[in-house]
Amino acid sequence: MEPHRRVVSGMRPTGSIHLGHYHGVLKNWIRMQHEYECYFFIADWHALTTDYEDNSDIRESSRRMLIDWLAAGVNPGSATLFVQSQIPELAELHLLLSMITPTAWLERVPGYKEMQDKLHDRSQGTYGFLGYPLLQGADIMAFRAGVVPVGADQAPHVEMAREVARRFNYLYGRDDGFEAQAEAAIRKLGKKNGALYRQLLDAHQTHGDDEALQTARALVKEQGRLTLAEKERLLGYLEGLGKTILAEPSSILTDTARMPGVDGEKMSNSGNNIIRLREEPEDVEKKVRTMQTDPARIRLSDPGEPERCPVWELHLLYSDEEAQQQVQNQCRNAGWGCLECKQPVAEAIIAEQAPIRERAAQYEENPELLQRILTEGAEQARDEVRATLKEVRAAMGLAGI
Ligand code: TRP
Ligand code: SF4
Repeated sequence: MEPHRRVVSGMRPTGSIHLGHYHGVLKNWIRMQHEYECYFFIADWHALTTDYEDNSDIRESSRRMLIDWLAAGVNPGSATLFVQSQIPELAELHLLLSMITPTAWLERVPGYKEMQDKLHDRSQGTYGFLGYPLLQGADIMAFRAGVVPVGADQAPHVEMAREVARRFNYLYGRDDGFEAQAEAAIRKLGKKNGALYRQLLDAHQTHGDDEALQTARALVKEQGRLTLAEKERLLGYLEGLGKTILAEPSSILTDTARMPGVDGEKMSNSGNNIIRLREEPEDVEKKVRTMQTDPARIRLSDPGEPERCPVWELHLLYSDEEAQQQVQNQCRNAGWGCLECKQPVAEAIIAEQAPIRERAAQYEENPELLQRILTEGAEQARDEVRATLKEVRAAMGLAGI
């Protein structure tokens, strides 16, 4: 699998999965799981970087989060799902990368200073908190992921991971053993394919034959028996490059639509304004009914302005064009009350959630299945991370262990 076809993303198990996660992240994951090789994980270590004092919720949040993912349509047959702390190799990679990461890079990650100032009462002066963008970088680089779907706030972390990968490759990617390792990988191709590879390599390097390069690339990519690391080495060898030990990731931004909370601010657990993915229908009704509207619309006879109303943002997500037109007219002409305007939104949310709640109930009753999904996911994930770590250890001179 090429790096740019591979996706990694994690979510912290704190609080509840809500409509903001669903529209902003999960629907995107569900789409991507068919197009990419996806690794999605429960970032429980990340939760500890901020919530280490109040850790009582991590286990239960993780369980509920997995159910939410599955019920929303994340498919363990398409994507690999796992818990971060079940892959201790990720911590080793984090440690090794910490050796080459300047602290200044971490200190200048946007939000670090602000977060420290804002949360000084929650003692964010820890080593773990400073290092958490690098921990995220290790999560990404461990899988050689080329693509990381993140919100705008997380994009600088991915950018830093790029810089760390580049620095690592610069420091360790041009070792003397490269040729010998490439030879070993060629032998793993088998007799016939190995000979073909050498022939194509020669055609490309001595005669500049581009077609041979393409053919050789295709040959390497279709080898099921090679690890990703071995494939990368052979691809680099073709072009006379040193090896890319760690792939450089790029972020793709996913937070397009802003999901308003019931108070009109951005929906978030800390804002206490969420509608949960599996909210009881009565509570959806209640929350939408009491939702903030255009503050200028006090009486029924006051005309309103949808652009100033968070309920309108929900109509943009949940109503068709005709219904949206009706909202605009009725609101601006004071043709209806806000409750009437909200009703179809509440109904649409409840209808959207009904099948999700149903599927979730089945998972709630089957803890063994959840366990199995995570065990299998961890095994698959660990294989990938181990292959990367083997390379990293060797590149850093730890190969003798
Ligand atoms: N740090 C992310 C957050 O707080 C979660 C996360 C951890 C993540 N590792 C990741 C996201 C790797 C993308 C890729 O939301
Ligand atoms: Fe908002 Fe609808 Fe009320 Fe207008 S009528 S203020 S769009 S809830």
